[in-house]
Amino acid sequence: MSTAIQTDEQSGTRPERRPTGRTVLMCRPEHFTVVYRINPWMNPAEPTDTSLALAQWQVLYDTYLGLGYDVHLIDPIPGLPDMVYAANGGFVIDGIAYGARFTYPERAPEGPAYMDWFRAAGFDVREPEEINEGEGDFLLVGETILAGTGFRSHSHSHEELARIADREVVTLRLVDPSFYHLDTAVAVLDATPGQEHVAYLPTAFDAASLAVLRERFPDAILVNETDAAVLGLNSFSDGYNVVIASRATDFERQLREHGYHPIGVDLSELLLGGGGVKCCTLELRR
Ligand code: ARG
Repeated sequence: MSTAIQTDEQSGTRPERRPTGRTVLMCRPEHFTVVYRINPWMNPAEPTDTSLALAQWQVLYDTYLGLGYDVHLIDPIPGLPDMVYAANGGFVIDGIAYGARFTYPERAPEGPAYMDWFRAAGFDVREPEEINEGEGDFLLVGETILAGTGFRSHSHSHEELARIADREVVTLRLVDPSFYHLDTAVAVLDATPGQEHVAYLPTAFDAASLAVLRERFPDAILVNETDAAVLGLNSFSDGYNVVIASRATDFERQLREHGYHPIGVDLSELLLGGGGVKCCTLELRR
């Protein structure tokens, strides 16, 4: 007989993990390459393989379809190599699409392109006044929006979003240039109000923000530097299935221990642009 360790589940304190359907927007990396450097992952001198990027992206797309998600596509635009990172295209909640206003001129035209798509899809588009990079820096958990700043989205955009979304917005300051968007440092595993659960990389935040995370999410999964360094946190969860970087093996183990079903995918080519699973995924909430 084996002596099992008492888990949260056995003691009945852990909520049952249940998948809830997702509707997402993605962009095929037809024009993906690295020709400028706006984050430490990008090196224009290193060659990229667009057909490999497309093949790897296709696996992510097929994974979402296999999970029953409703996946929408925006047409990629030549000359916008980062458009594949759809998370940056805006933040969508209650049928309202708060548009993106990019930090760097290289990505600026993506803002209007995504807003055009939202409009055509029937969303109530709100043009941003403040610099923000959409769901790259805004993560909904429960009824609260966690909002990153420090490298990309300006803290004024947090106030703008709070007004537009009529939600509490909690500012978190990022301090490590490798984790320049909030979705590279925090993963929302369960966004259901009342059972909010996240994972994060403690060293990505300043002391005050870390204190906020510790207080709000005492049972969070803490991810190690090795897994964070393959953008393991840049994952997408439906409350049960968590699509993650296949190289984030310790995070995968922790997810299983917490009752989730991790699904690994390899987006090594898109990592050359500084993005992973979540960056390629924008959630559409009607
Ligand atoms: N090359 C892109 C940039 O630096 C990568 C964006 C990654 N997106 C994200 N949601 N973290 O802007």
